[in-house]
Amino acid sequence: MITNEEILDALKKVFDPELGRSIVELRMVRDLHVSEGGAVTFTLALTIPGCPMKAQMERDARMAVMALPGITDVKVTFGTMTEDEKKVIFANGKPELPKLNKFNQVQKVIAVLSGKGGVGKSSVTAMLACDLARSGKKVGILDADITGPSIPRLFGLPPGGLRGSDQGILPAVTSLGIKVVSINLMIPSEDAAVIWRGPMISGTIQQFWRDVLWGKLDYLLIDLPPGTSDAALTVMQTIPVNGVVLVSTPQELAGMVVRKADSMLKQLKMPVVAVVENMSYFICPDCRKQHEIYGLSHVEALAKAVETEVSVRLPIDPKLASLADTGMIESYQHTGLQQVISVITT
Ligand SMILES: Nc1ncnc2c1ncn2[C@@H]1O[C@H](COP(=O)(O)OP(=O)(O)OP(=O)(O)O)[C@@H](O)[C@H]1O
Ligand SMILES: [Mg+2]
Repeated sequence: MITNEEILDALKKVFDPELGRSIVELRMVRDLHVSEGGAVTFTLALTIPGCPMKAQMERDARMAVMALPGITDVKVTFGTMTEDEKKVIFANGKPELPKLNKFNQVQKVIAVLSGKGGVGKSSVTAMLACDLARSGKKVGILDADITGPSIPRLFGLPPGGLRGSDQGILPAVTSLGIKVVSINLMIPSEDAAVIWRGPMISGTIQQFWRDVLWGKLDYLLIDLPPGTSDAALTVMQTIPVNGVVLVSTPQELAGMVVRKADSMLKQLKMPVVAVVENMSYFICPDCRKQHEIYGLSHVEALAKAVETEVSVRLPIDPKLASLADTGMIESYQHTGLQQVISVITT
């Protein structure tokens, strides 16, 4: 007959999507019982009674247990954690952070975030990493965009380039010595689609933090997927992020950008160290005049809304697009992010 330990082992793979941690590790599984006929019952103690992820966790838990041999039925009832139990999980208002691999020492973690897709987060992440690496800093990039990873392509890193060792996963290394971890380095082809559900995505991001041998880093930059998706929230809740660089473009309506940024910050409770308005203008190579192709800049209003002193504008630059496309972002020469680098490095 199957034992409680075996059932708990199966349940370890079920994650609370909001906290990004296993329901077993969070001590949510209570009163586990398995009958001789193979019927399993247990209580799932939630952090709040009306947890929006309740149905998903129940379904994941049921599937995980039903996959074990000899199980005929799974019945989940719900309970709620006591205030004291919750305190253990949300130490200082945040979930207890997963331990970093003992060989790793990361000084500062900066996440790059945007309200919507395609505004240049990955490009800005890569440019910041290059600028930091050129100034002699040890830099890593954690590509947290699991379903749309683009960091390896920017650096020309081939798919399948990650290797394992006894101590953990070894990152790929770029020409400038930037350590990169991305799901695209683990799958056989760049075009293979990763269609995963929330818990697997969260689990993978945590692994990228915990099980990768980053070694000693001055800065770890995290390229987030757009918006406040599960993945973005997982990063903020389970990785000790020191600050956020917010990327936007003038295309978005000023008022909407500000409102979105404001609500995002409330959700994340995280300081914004700088705002980057990308594709902000274009300088005509013939007449040298500046054209605001996507409309007027609203970087000032955005910076004010997110309470940051540092805001920069980057031009539309066809050179950047073509170097990025050919995996040569490390050759891109520019000075547009100097202010952001100064605030990150102080
Ligand atoms: N300043 C710029 N000038 C010209 N092209 C740019 C600029 N910034 C980004 N691009 C181009 O715009 C496209 C989108 O950029 P990027 O992939 O960095 O955006 P993203 O916000 O990371 O997108 P996603 O939301 O899909 O992750 C890329 O083709 C990139 O080369
Ligand atoms: Mg991107």
